[in-house]
Amino acid sequence: MPFKRNILCIGAGYVGGPTMAMIAFKCPQYKVTVVDINPERIAQWNSDDLPIYEPGLDQVVRAARGRNLFFSTEIEKGIQASDVIFVSVNTPTKNFGAGAGMAADLQYWDKTAREIRKYSRSNKIIVEKSTLPVKTAQAMERILTCGDTALSFDVLSNPEFLAEGTAIQDLENPDRVLIGSSQTAQGICARDVLVEIYANWVPREKIITSNIWSSELSKLVANAFLAQRISSVNSISALCEKADADVQEVARAVGMDSRVGAKFLNASVGFGGSCFKKDILNLVYICRYYDLREVADYWEGVVKINEYQKERFILNMLQVMFNTLAGKKICLFGFAFKADTGDTRESPAIQIAKRLMEERADLVITDPKAIDNAKEDLKGAIGNVTYVEDPLDATAGCCAIAVMTEWSLYKNLDYREIYRKMAKPAFIFDGRNILDHEALHNMGFNVFPIGKPPLTHF
Ligand code: UDX
Ligand code: ADP
Repeated sequence: MPFKRNILCIGAGYVGGPTMAMIAFKCPQYKVTVVDINPERIAQWNSDDLPIYEPGLDQVVRAARGRNLFFSTEIEKGIQASDVIFVSVNTPTKNFGAGAGMAADLQYWDKTAREIRKYSRSNKIIVEKSTLPVKTAQAMERILTCGDTALSFDVLSNPEFLAEGTAIQDLENPDRVLIGSSQTAQGICARDVLVEIYANWVPREKIITSNIWSSELSKLVANAFLAQRISSVNSISALCEKADADVQEVARAVGMDSRVGAKFLNASVGFGGSCFKKDILNLVYICRYYDLREVADYWEGVVKINEYQKERFILNMLQVMFNTLAGKKICLFGFAFKADTGDTRESPAIQIAKRLMEERADLVITDPKAIDNAKEDLKGAIGNVTYVEDPLDATAGCCAIAVMTEWSLYKNLDYREIYRKMAKPAFIFDGRNILDHEALHNMGFNVFPIGKPPLTHF
């Protein structure tokens, strides 16, 4: 039986892969093909060892792959055969030329638009999935429709709000699906095609529509607001440490105000991930472009506090470990930017590892899913670093443990045994406030949480 629709996704990364797997899983009537320029990535998507770790993803892929979900490197063929094309290529922060370190690098996006134009033989609906600066959809439409093409391309903005580690849950039960379109009759028709796809499993009232620019901007602003909450609570953690208050108690009291809400108020060593910093810098860049200096400075403060928090963590370690880390073995518990993912992009652990190596500490890194990425991230960094799978083995002979990632496995380790095998005095720096600090202190550890008074034996 022919499929009701042919959907293509260009870019098989953390967003494209899981999102398309979910559409295929929920909609067997559509054929969903995911293409990528990276043949190794595609081979992994076609294997039993998927390129990303995401709880529940294996089952979803296994159910749909070969039935109506396909992974391929044949971009030209994929473009020709499809009527709806999601674009989910990477949009990192630019590291060259104008706007370096701030603006989005749109080269992959631009190249994709040109490929779509070159290979298309029929009208297409193009869905912008990657997070992009405001008005990118317009640029894409211009690239697609320039020249003498008789084809029509409708560009929609459909930002993805999934968080890594909970991607499958977020895709299955999203808080909302946002679709931005032009307000012309044709734009609204295209929008309705996408609404119909999501309506296969998302309740209609959760599918919201807007104009394209509002949709593009909403994604940047949503991430900026989330990151702002973390920087807010992290800034207060610094005050709590000086004022003998407890940031978790403060966050609980503040978060119980229903206008504030309790989520995203966990003080930490700093936020990471591929989105927060990049999207805020993008927002800052756009504000500067429109000469909104005060607005730009306000949002830039969120990133500055995040940098401050990481640096504060390092300087605290240095100071309490008697102002020298040289030759001391320090174990990092976790390297991923958050639990339940192997992703290390912008992980605070990268900067902290590099800074500890600068202080000539000997690093031991353990993480249940991110060791391969950690090795990549620290390639070329000067200093001693070893990678050990088992956290108990990893801590043997260490002077200190620094918790970088809130993996739940770190909560239930045999800390008595760990303490026995560590050098003394033994330190724990809990960069995620996930451990039982009181119990660890009673075992003999000197414990340094975030935003709480330390528990020491001297
Ligand atoms: C984020 C957004 O949540 C998601 O909607 C968007 O689509 C992509 O960016 P993600 O980066 O995957 O998702 O993870 P998120 O759960 O938001 O965590 C980001 C960082 O903030 C992590 O390093 C996490 O550990 C940290 N964090 C989160 C805190 O430090 N404290 C908190 O209270 C919450
Ligand atoms: P995200 O987290 O936004 O999903 P990723 O970096 O994980 O970002 O994935 C983006 C994917 O897009 C990568 O696998 C990359 O190889 C792919 N990609 C980039 N440019 C193109 C292109 N022109 N055609 C096809 N795939 C592309």
